[in-house]
Amino acid sequence: MKRMRRLRTSENIRTLVQETRLNIEDLVYPIFVMDGENIRNPIESMPNIFRFSLDKLDEELNRVVESGIKNILIFGVPSFKDEFGSIAYSENGITQKAIRYIKKFFPHLMVIADVCLCEYTSHGHCGIIDREKNEILNDETLPFLVKTALSLAKSGADIVAPSDMMDGRVAYIRNALDENGYINLPIMAYSAKYASAYYSPFRDAANSAPTFGDRKTYQMDYSNAKEAFLEVEADIEEGADIIMVKPALAYLDIIKSISEKYNTPLAAYNVSGEYSMVKAAAANGWIDEKRIVMENMTAIKRAGASIIITYHAVDVANWIKEG
Ligand code: PBG
Ligand code: ZN
Repeated sequence: MKRMRRLRTSENIRTLVQETRLNIEDLVYPIFVMDGENIRNPIESMPNIFRFSLDKLDEELNRVVESGIKNILIFGVPSFKDEFGSIAYSENGITQKAIRYIKKFFPHLMVIADVCLCEYTSHGHCGIIDREKNEILNDETLPFLVKTALSLAKSGADIVAPSDMMDGRVAYIRNALDENGYINLPIMAYSAKYASAYYSPFRDAANSAPTFGDRKTYQMDYSNAKEAFLEVEADIEEGADIIMVKPALAYLDIIKSISEKYNTPLAAYNVSGEYSMVKAAAANGWIDEKRIVMENMTAIKRAGASIIITYHAVDVANWIKEG
């Protein structure tokens, strides 16, 4: 009989044979910024996550730096929205201002900028709308995404991350970045982004719920796995430097198969709904938050994601240090 339990007899031995180790460097922490002053506005559906005005951002960024987190993902919540999402690509948009501020005062933080229109459009969709048919127009959206990515690059973003799921956007953005001298600026593509009920707390946070219809005409159907390969292949071919699967926990099979099939660095987005469910159960005393979160994070990494975007990031970093 083979005795497997020998490898579990002491903590030192278990540590020696541990296959998956979480590192603080794996983590990306999302931050919401908004116009205004003196704002630290709690997001009801996401306990302990806030929207910050720039003058209040220091506090949060200091907490991030102290935890050891190196990477943040910025989402802007603008005070003005219109049909074409013009604040998304305005030099004085909230996201652009936030990036300039962060790069000036926290130059060691790596800033990833989300590229999408949904936070900035009055209709809440990620693209331009054909008003007669109420359809999201793929090709017409691309120039707007390009403008957005360029203006975020110009503000100092270290990585741009298109999350819109329009076909062809990675190639368009790559091309424009190269033509404008940003040949070394990577693109992290939300490649396999599923139309998911797990995003609803984020839509509260970013005030970005669509005012009509849903995102099923551009985000993926959660019934499909092979289609994720097609999305990933297209993005890699178009020049994506990092690919992403989103959400994470209900999609570990997708993470696993993509990580085995492709060599491009893979990120997983542990999204708002996944976070809120854990926080709600923990607040009720039904689960042990630290143990559940560490188990979830390890599962995501074990499945094959080397980069984990999560609202738990600061807590996880502090727990990793605690040991
Ligand atoms: C914007 C975007 C969304 C998320 C990240 N970027 C929302 C959406 O597609 O509705 C979701 C993140 C989360 O739920 O934490 N395109
Ligand atoms: Zn969007």
